[in-house]
Amino acid sequence: MAEETPQAPENKPSEQPAADKSAEAKPAEGEAGAPKPEVKSEDQLKAEARSPKKQVAVDAKGSIWMSRRNFFSRAGWAAFFAFVASFLIGSLRFMFPRVLFEPSPIFKAGYPDDYPVGFVSTIWVKEQRVWIVRDDDGLYAIQAICTHLGCTPRWLDAENKFKCPCHGSGFTSEGINFEGPAPRPLERVQVTLAEDGQLLINKSIKFLQEKGDWGKPGSILKV
Ligand code: FES
Repeated sequence: MAEETPQAPENKPSEQPAADKSAEAKPAEGEAGAPKPEVKSEDQLKAEARSPKKQVAVDAKGSIWMSRRNFFSRAGWAAFFAFVASFLIGSLRFMFPRVLFEPSPIFKAGYPDDYPVGFVSTIWVKEQRVWIVRDDDGLYAIQAICTHLGCTPRWLDAENKFKCPCHGSGFTSEGINFEGPAPRPLERVQVTLAEDGQLLINKSIKFLQEKGDWGKPGSILKV
């Protein structure tokens, strides 16, 4: 018996990639038969630039910058929040008004016996701007404010008068103006006796000589 010899595989033509084929099919640029590149007119280019597609591309490219609509939207919200914040701050300020705490105009000035007759006491001038004077009529308190422009006069014991250092006005120990530009006497303030027997001075109640107040109760303490 004769043995069958194996047959050699048939030689098949190798397959080439489609790209090569297409490359072969298309003629190279510049060769005869190749399509010419499209040349756009100036009007076409302008129309493309104005087209919405192009605009969207520009917006996407410039996204780090705010669009005009975003800018006005954010500015509007910022203004709104600023208004609300200022309103709240103003309301809080209204709840805590600024109050000026002044010292009380009332103070105790010791006992009547601390002030001998014919004596002008200056011990309360620095703290309360008040002189305590005692004469034969009684005790009274004079405010140490010049009736010219408000300086503080000094008591000159040797000359038995009050003298203003600013413009030279002079006042008697009762407070009557007699020299200088002061237009009226010094003002007196209320003096009464407290429950404990001390002098009680109230600077908020004043007695003006030119108004005939010096004889009224509180303008002088009979002791
Ligand atoms: S303020 Fe006293 S004289 Fe002018």
